Amino acid sequence: MPTETATEIASIVGGRALTDAPGGRLESTNPAQTDQIVATALLGDAGTFVDACRAARAAQRAWREVPAPTRGRAIQQAGRLVEDNKEALAHLVTREIGKPYPESLGEVQEIVDTCNFFLGEGRRLYGQTVPSEMPDKQLFTFRVPVGVAAIITAGNFPVAVPSWYLVPALLCGNAVVWKPADYAPATAEALAQLFLHAGLPEGVLNLVLCDGPTTSEGLGRALDEGLVDKVGFTGSSDVGRRIGELCGRHLQNPCLELGGKNPMVVMQDADLDLAVEGALFSGFGTAGQRCTSLGTVIVADSIHDEFLARFTRAVESAAIGDPEQDVLYGPMIDLKFMDRFEDWLGLIRDHHTVSGSTGTGRITPDNPRQGFVGDPSAGIFAHPTIVAGVRGDDEIANTETFGPIVGVASFGSFDEAMDLANRHGYGLSSSIYTTNPKHAFRFRERISAGMVSVNNSTSGAEAHLPFGGNGKSGNGSRQSGIWVLDQFTRWQSMNWDYAGKLQKAQMDVEDVEADLGYRIG
Ligand code: UN1
Repeated sequence: MPTETATEIASIVGGRALTDAPGGRLESTNPAQTDQIVATALLGDAGTFVDACRAARAAQRAWREVPAPTRGRAIQQAGRLVEDNKEALAHLVTREIGKPYPESLGEVQEIVDTCNFFLGEGRRLYGQTVPSEMPDKQLFTFRVPVGVAAIITAGNFPVAVPSWYLVPALLCGNAVVWKPADYAPATAEALAQLFLHAGLPEGVLNLVLCDGPTTSEGLGRALDEGLVDKVGFTGSSDVGRRIGELCGRHLQNPCLELGGKNPMVVMQDADLDLAVEGALFSGFGTAGQRCTSLGTVIVADSIHDEFLARFTRAVESAAIGDPEQDVLYGPMIDLKFMDRFEDWLGLIRDHHTVSGSTGTGRITPDNPRQGFVGDPSAGIFAHPTIVAGVRGDDEIANTETFGPIVGVASFGSFDEAMDLANRHGYGLSSSIYTTNPKHAFRFRERISAGMVSVNNSTSGAEAHLPFGGNGKSGNGSRQSGIWVLDQFTRWQSMNWDYAGKLQKAQMDVEDVEADLGYRIG
């Protein structure tokens, strides 16, 4: 039974909250206390998605005319509003998806950082002046907004990752239709309201609450009608592939941020305690539900047993439970994540050894975790699981396992380590622990990942460095910093000839006479 009256939240299209619910109603519950309803979401249908794209299309015509520094001012106001509501938004993140509160504060800070970076970009958004091959002629480049961006995001970073799309897209003069994760509608609606209160004109930012199949249908229709110019998607590689296919049919190149199987290589010369700390945070922080979460630790043979012993001790003694208290991690985001996690536990084979907790799978009174913080039956909690003895061709070494499970493998030569680190075909994040700069640079050269940490965990990217992956982790697009500008603008080139006569490129160009037969002495 619900313990409180839940608020109702709705899609926002053209500045108006849509209080009918053609897609039904969805109760968003607190995964740490599943009897608590955080909000009831009034869901839209495919038509709602298309209407939102139409509203965005109409609003973008005026928005792209607003001077970029003024658009930057709106981003500045949004950042201020988010900062002034930091604790409230972070509490909502914790209640709705179960992230420990300090991490939720970090998540909200990431939005502020993103706004702080891009408010200045409003005064840059540089184009270039380029010399012409002819006199009395000038060449220029301009960044032009793409148009309408449809942004579809995941529940594990319900506001920070969306801000990586929303902020640059809006700053560059695009209008946005944002479809947040089903698991975090209340958090998404709160962020949308903060942005809308920052002075964005109606229709420039639209929020559509709906489920996955509805999004596919709505997006397909909106693309067919020519209402969407750019898709941004964060989620699984499978769905990313489908979105890539759909966009490809419309000659569009989406911004895809997909899964990972992020390796951590621990060299013989590593500071072991530091490596254990990094593995603990990146493997089990956020219950392993980051796309940058650690997949497999790949440890030099000579230190493997010592690493495993220390890692096991650290995981066994980590506090897990109520995310409002001081814990390493709280619940799984939703029951679906728990179910999938239990499937992945099925990838453990006889040659593996399991450690890290007093059980595996869901933590319950009958399958307890020693030292659990709070009441496990109140929410959806999973035992942390270390799987040692992982080999390169094991399914577990090559499958993204979105949850608190970390593989441990050992290597003899550096080549073996690199094979284990790359063979799964993902390429998002990676890390090496070493005190030898040569190992660090060799690793950087040979790792397929888009992001490399040295003596730092696989997660925790800063908001102004390029974020994104290769292979099964994405299509090469990058978010954040100056690099994301290429996702939300297109280059337009211009030439201006003031010679008063037609000067033909390549043909009317003066040549330089040279004596190419000349030799010294
Ligand atoms: C994600 O999991 O989708 O680097 C993003 C990190 C965070 C972002 C993760 N700053 O772990």
